[in-house]
Amino acid sequence: MEKVVRVGISLDPGLLTRFDDLIKGEGYTNRSEAIRDLIRRRLAERDVEEGNSEVVGTITMIYDHHSGDVTDRLLHLQHHHLDVITVSSHLHVDERLCMEAVLVRGRYGEVRALFNEIKSLKGVLKADLSVTPLSLRI
Ligand code: NI
Repeated sequence: MEKVVRVGISLDPGLLTRFDDLIKGEGYTNRSEAIRDLIRRRLAERDVEEGNSEVVGTITMIYDHHSGDVTDRLLHLQHHHLDVITVSSHLHVDERLCMEAVLVRGRYGEVRALFNEIKSLKGVLKADLSVTPLSLRI
């Protein structure tokens, strides 16, 4: 394990009070862990923005299976992205609505392209993408 380095930072007292209130509300018991998490989160965002990082994540979608051929199109899309999709779960929400959650792994650019294809299909009412770059392990 790498040796931990101690650093000091200068903050306006008002900003520090607001930060302490924020992290207390989020359950942190010390500033160091909160600051480490903020740094990791920002680095992860930058890695994702660069588009080429390896990510894991989920694509969730809600669709109306009575709407045209959306079910066939979603099935077709998923069979053509076996390199990115690892697991798919389906929930029959009611008589019309279906929800699917797909676990994905791959380059962010590929995952994002698949997500864009899914969300733009007619009949998909809502789709969400959540990813975490594997560089987060630092
Ligand atoms: Ni269903």
